[in-house]
Amino acid sequence: MAALRINRFWSVVATLLIVYAFVKWGIPAASREITTLPFPLPVPGTLVFIYMTLTVVALFIFVTFSDTYLEEFLRPIRKFLIGGYGKIPRTIGLVVIPLLVGWQVYAITVPKVELPVSLRIQHPSSNFPKSFEDAKNPLENPSDADIEAFIDQAKANEVVLIPQVMPDVEAWMDEADPEPEHMLAFIPTEPMSKFLAEVAADNISMETARAALREKNLFEGRALYSMNCRACHGDSVSGDGPMADGFKLRPINFTDNGTIETIVEGYTFWRVTNGGPGLPTEATPWDSAMPEWKLSLTEEQRWKIIMAEYDLAEKTPRIPEAH
Ligand code: HEC
Repeated sequence: MAALRINRFWSVVATLLIVYAFVKWGIPAASREITTLPFPLPVPGTLVFIYMTLTVVALFIFVTFSDTYLEEFLRPIRKFLIGGYGKIPRTIGLVVIPLLVGWQVYAITVPKVELPVSLRIQHPSSNFPKSFEDAKNPLENPSDADIEAFIDQAKANEVVLIPQVMPDVEAWMDEADPEPEHMLAFIPTEPMSKFLAEVAADNISMETARAALREKNLFEGRALYSMNCRACHGDSVSGDGPMADGFKLRPINFTDNGTIETIVEGYTFWRVTNGGPGLPTEATPWDSAMPEWKLSLTEEQRWKIIMAEYDLAEKTPRIPEAH
């Protein structure tokens, strides 16, 4: 039985078509099976070009391997050109092929009307609500009543801390040796030590208490920061958390001069509240992966984190312009 022999010319054409179809449709179809995503992953144009170039090079070697192979490859082309398949097909071929090539070249080179490339705006504000503009961090300016309530809690050694930090504070109280005099000694900063000395002497000034309350809020803010933001923005708040490399639009580096220092606090609050999904189109082409924190953090928690964020970055927010 004679094996099915296809002329070398047609096997070259068939190979090109099969490889192209495989790269263009076969790989995306396989990607759906492998990734189980609801859409195919297309092969990038440059990669298609590389695959096709390699195929052409391989076919060229295959055809020019010997004179007989080359002769066999050229035979149908020659036959077509001298009218061996009939005059009408030849005329059609000689007209249609240049027309197709010419049309392709035209389609590629003709100037098109296109939207100008838009640059990404770091601090987009077209949908930034005016009401946030003058928002102040309420924790930076506690009322006298708040400070007095804090003093009362400190005197009773029953300071209300966020529940997230309580297990650590309690474990420390149980294990520290000698046993700590006061739960707030857990925050070993200078303003806090000064305040605790005044509590012990029962002679507390409002100023010391205000500074100590700030230390308590900063401590809670740092704890909330490490639970929620550290993975992206990093321990050193410089946008180098363990997950940071996974994002095309890197989480912002708060220690960089162009970031949280150049915006008013209300803007920072709004960005944290609404995350990436709350940004207008000027913030594209890359979408920010920042979660929408209003869904999982209370307003007070968000302000605490922002306070700690500025403190850790050693920056101060921009002061809102006077109206
Ligand atoms: C999933 C990663 C991720 C997490 C978690 C995350 N962020 Fe972000 N954050 C980003 C990305 C990405 C940007 C956008 C960077 C840009 O706009 O250039 C960003 C931007 C910001 C900005 C805007 C800064 C500016 O100058 O406009 C603030 C403020 C911010 N994040 C605060 C936080 C806070 C606070 C938390 C925790 C409550 C947090 N982020 C958690 C990824 C994250």
